[in-house]
Formats: sequence, structure tokens, C-alpha cells
Amino acid sequence: MPQATFHFPPGFLWGTATSSHQVEGGNSNNNWYAWEQEPGRILQGHHSGLACDWWGGRWRQDLDRAAEAGQNAHRMSIEWSRIQPTPDQWDEAALDYYREIVRGMYDRKLTPLVTLHHFTDPLWLMEQGGWENPETPGKFARYARKVVEALKDYVNLWVTINEPGIYTWLGYIDGVFPPGKKDTKAAFSVGQNLVKGHAGAYREIHDVQREARVGAACHYRSFVPQRTGLPFDTWITRSISANFNDSFPNAMKTGRFRFMGKQAIINEAVDTQDFFGFNYYTEEMIRFAPLAVKEFFNKREFPHDAQISENGLIANVPDGMTRTIKWANRFGKPILILENGVEDANDILRPRYLLEHLHKTWHQMNENVPIKGYFHWSLVDNFEWERGWTQRFGLWGLDPETQVRTRRPSVDLYAAICKENAISSATVEKFVPEIFAGMFPG
Ligand code: FCB
Repeated sequence: MPQATFHFPPGFLWGTATSSHQVEGGNSNNNWYAWEQEPGRILQGHHSGLACDWWGGRWRQDLDRAAEAGQNAHRMSIEWSRIQPTPDQWDEAALDYYREIVRGMYDRKLTPLVTLHHFTDPLWLMEQGGWENPETPGKFARYARKVVEALKDYVNLWVTINEPGIYTWLGYIDGVFPPGKKDTKAAFSVGQNLVKGHAGAYREIHDVQREARVGAACHYRSFVPQRTGLPFDTWITRSISANFNDSFPNAMKTGRFRFMGKQAIINEAVDTQDFFGFNYYTEEMIRFAPLAVKEFFNKREFPHDAQISENGLIANVPDGMTRTIKWANRFGKPILILENGVEDANDILRPRYLLEHLHKTWHQMNENVPIKGYFHWSLVDNFEWERGWTQRFGLWGLDPETQVRTRRPSVDLYAAICKENAISSATVEKFVPEIFAGMFPG
């Protein structure tokens, strides 16, 4: 059997990602809490409840697990509604607690990467119109400053906003996230204000901390034309991808925000990313469908030969990771893979998904693409937004009732990779023997 090792460079960040509302528990002052109280909004009527009880202190054991499993970084997020519970009040105790958490990472030799906005907004902000209100970007920038002032001794990697495109799309076009609107005009204002909020936060963070490295976490869904010979499929695929994938990162590079057929020039957003962060999960094939008006004239399917995840949410398409990295590299910055993973309670697909996506990542690094880290979604099962507890993305499983964690086999697979800083043939043979021959041809 051939033996080989695919090495990653020294200092590569190996981590997992979480977000405040999904893991903390007890968040009752934000728009998601309110959304969870409305009947029919969350699958099976689930609530975030205690979540993973991080606010109650269980972050300590979860970070112990991460560190013991060889990880050297963690991506977490800060809950704006805790830091600023009312428009004119900063909660110093909450800031202190977050400082304790990031110091806890530091003590465990986990490099912290902190996201300032991950889908949730304070209730008071939503009462003022949320991100439709042109004053929100300024408020967000002030909140960002406050957080950086408090955490700067331990953190210099910052993500301003997680998936601004998904936030806008699901909250203001599809309506499955709060505030549940289906209003493209509102979506355009929200999108524009998110870009301004990002730009304002970028400046405030650098003003407080010279050495800060700041970016956003842009979601990328890889789209490919279904019928390669058909120009209409190619055309609709390009236009969907430009709208869905490119609008936000382009605006953060060029200042030109093009979304839902409209355009705005946002000069302050020019070149406001020090690194390029993306979240990649899956790929879809697109075909032109002239009668599908509500679906913006297209139909989508997963590639027919791909394995599909437990809930049908994700197709395992590692080539989509390659396409995503090539896309990300066009922005000319160091790259961080900020989310990638699959819902899989029984850990049937995850080991293969993880290995194949990391293998493609390694290939791209070998082509000199400057990828600096990989954060798997997620460390432990957590509250999956409108899909409640029905989706299990954790390396560790969680019973939210008892708070008992279970170690899935992928923990040990990922630990082997993190500890060796490499994918070795022995690891592949041990954990996913069925892909060995493809990865190490004799
Ligand atoms: C991403 C979100 C993250 C989690 C994963 C599965 O879009 O950023 O919070 O829900 O999907």
C-alpha cells in the first residue's frame, strides 16, 4: 500500500466554529429569541433554551475537548444584545465574561477568532428597524469598538459580520429568518447597511488595535450549470452566483454593491478586508426554468452522483471546495476557511466529507493559494436556527436536555489531522479506507 503524507504549513490554524446564540443558552434579549416564541417559525417548535450552556460555564469543558483533540484555534461570536442590552447601556459584566472566555482559549493554546455579528440582533435594534435603519451601521461600529477595547489583549483576528448575504436573503427575501419579510426593496437597504456596518467596524477595530486582522465570513454556494452545452443554463448560473455569492465580498473590495438588480456605491467599503473568510458547505447544479418566476427563473439540484447528508441539506461535493477556494483567491488576500461541515448524527458521511474537503484544500495550498486556517462547523451540536435541534453538525454530539456530550468518531479523525498538521495515508486508511485508493493511487 502506498504511503504518503500531505503536510500543511507550520502555524496553520486548525479549529472549529460556534456562534453565541447557538451555544450560549439563556439569550432572551435578541430577535431570535422572539422568533422562537412564534408558533411555526422553528421546526418541531424547538427553542434554543440552554443551548450548549456556554453562558452557564460549559465552554470550559468544550474548549478542553477542542484542545485535547489537537485543535489550536477557535472561532466564536459575541452576542450584541448582551453587551448592549438597551440602547444606552453597556454591560461590563458581560464584557468581563467574554474576556474570561477568550482568556480561556488563550490558556488552552487556542487562537481565538471572534465574530461580532452572527445573525442575531438586540430586540431594541429591531424595534428601531434593524438593518433597514441607516443609523444601524454606526451603532454596530460603536459596539464593535467597545468589544475590541475589552478583548484586545487576547484577540487580534476579527470577523465583522457572518454571512451578510444569508442574513439578508433568509430574513428579507425568503422570510424564514426574522423579521420574516419578503421584500426585495428592504433586502437591498439591509444589504447596503450591512456593508456599511462592516466598513465602519473595520475602521473602528483598526483604530483600537493596530495589529488587528479583520474580515467578514462570506457564504459561498458553488453553482454549476446543469446542462453544460446550454447557454441559458450558463447565463442563469452566472447571474445567480453573482447575486448570491459575489455581491457582498465585491462591495468590500471595490465599494460597488450590486444586489437584486440594483447598485449602490459605498466608498467607505473599498478594500476593507485584511483576510478573505468564507463558509462553504455544498454545490448545486442550476438549470434555466423560464416559468419558475418565484424561484427567479431557475431550478436547482444536487449533483446526481454526490452523497447526500442525513436531512438532505448538503451534498458532499469536494470539487465545490476547489471552486470556492479559486473564487476566494481572486480577492487577493490570505484566506481563512471559516465554516465547513455536515449534519450527520451518526457520523456516517462526516469523516469522508471532512477528509475530502481538506484534501482539496491541501491541493490548492500546493498551488500556492495562501490558505491560513480551517474551522470546522461545529465543535458540538448546537441550535440550528429555523431547523432547531434537528440538525447535528457537531464533532461531539449533544443531548440538549441532559447536556451530555458524545464523542463521534470524527473527533479522532480531525485530531489526527490537527496533531500531525497533515493528512497521512495511515489516517485515511484508518478512518475512511474506502477513499484510500483515490487519494493515494499506487
Ligand atoms: C451557516 C451558519 C452557521 C450554521 C451553519 C450550519 O450558514 O453561519 O451558524 O448554521 O450554517
